[in-house]
Amino acid sequence: MKQSELMQEAHLHMPQGVAENYRYWGDDKTVFIQHAKGCELTDSDGKTYVDFRLGYGPIILGYQDTRVDAAVIRQIHDSGTLTGFATALDTEVVKQIKALCPQIEKMRFANSGTEAVMGAVRTARGFTKRERIVMVEGGFHGLYDELMWKSDIENWQLGETRAPSVIPFGAGIPAKTRDLVDIIGLNDDEALEHIFRLRGEELACVLLEPIIGNAGSISATPQWLQRLRDLCDANGTLLLIDEVKSGFRVDKGGAQALYGIHADLTTYAKAMGNGYPVAAFGGRAEVMDVIGSQRGAVVHGGTYTANLIGLSAAHATLDILTHTNALQTVHQVGQKVKALLSNVFSRAGLAHAFAGPPSMLGIHFTPEVPQTYRDWRKTDSHLYNLFAWELIARGVMLEPDSREPWFFCEAHSQMDLAWLEDMATLALRAALDKSLK
Ligand SMILES: Cc1ncc(COP(=O)(O)O)c(C=O)c1O
Repeated sequence: MKQSELMQEAHLHMPQGVAENYRYWGDDKTVFIQHAKGCELTDSDGKTYVDFRLGYGPIILGYQDTRVDAAVIRQIHDSGTLTGFATALDTEVVKQIKALCPQIEKMRFANSGTEAVMGAVRTARGFTKRERIVMVEGGFHGLYDELMWKSDIENWQLGETRAPSVIPFGAGIPAKTRDLVDIIGLNDDEALEHIFRLRGEELACVLLEPIIGNAGSISATPQWLQRLRDLCDANGTLLLIDEVKSGFRVDKGGAQALYGIHADLTTYAKAMGNGYPVAAFGGRAEVMDVIGSQRGAVVHGGTYTANLIGLSAAHATLDILTHTNALQTVHQVGQKVKALLSNVFSRAGLAHAFAGPPSMLGIHFTPEVPQTYRDWRKTDSHLYNLFAWELIARGVMLEPDSREPWFFCEAHSQMDLAWLEDMATLALRAALDKSLK
């Protein structure tokens, strides 16, 4: 069936005709995939794309990586998909993660980033016996009601001194949950000092992505992150770093290895399983040991936790990331694409800046690297959107919103860079023409 027919039929069966909100790109633009291999996708109309979206980041090696897939199939043949009992593999995978991420002493598993964040936040609250959480503007931590509050940047004007309003993602979020959450700006020294002065002793945790994978890889400065670490320590507040996007991608040890600043609790998902559904949270043993079955302990569990599909995929993926140059390859190809795009933009006289590391590259049409989510409003995100759609039309798949970085995987090393440069040049010319109309 053609995409248009698939869309029409899907509307009869699912809200918006899709399995989850973010896949709906409009009736004529929603993509139905029928094949994925390496760094390429083929849609149901037979059109192929080189993919820089990579399912919002989990694909770190490539689609259908035979090393990972074979390990999963072997595991299923050996012991099925789950039994609801412990396995030796549980400990093996934690040991792999501990070898890469020195701040992890104990862990628990989950099936999605959202679930890992929920477990980590509950653990932080259980340990500190406090309820309040601080988040950072532009961050995203999954579709977990309590954290589904965001800064309304679209309706905030540049130059306004007041902070953007905080709004729920949509209907169905209890208004009461707003009372437990504060949002501060990234790299905003004053806001950071103020929130600890105001509520220091009430804060269970500060939850953030130091490289905001959901705001164009805009990144914390090392000084700001260090001050946050110090204030957490001084106030008995836990630092909870969400590495769902950055973990095992920006470095083997995630964003924390790049900064040399370590969290009390960390969440991982996405790249740890190369696209298989697996996630984890962990941190200091003293904190994690608040999880248990005794009265007063934190409860964590779930039928599919540490299921053998996800866990064997994580084991194989982490083994490859640990023992091969896969991540180096990912970084090199990201670096090459960054240089190539910079040439394309410069030839057109277009001011541009890149944010974040090359494996998770934020691309912004603005002269200076954005330092805060509010800076994102200084970028020409409209032109970026036009450029993205022109790229998609030419077989380059990406999210048509500059808040979503470009993701790279090992299989991108096979990509034809000259072709990409041609497509980017043509797409930019077409986007600039449209923007002038
Ligand atoms: C930083 C971060 N945390 C949590 C999540 C939620 O993960 P999931 O979609 O697997 O539930 C995401 C998803 O994009 C994310 O980027």
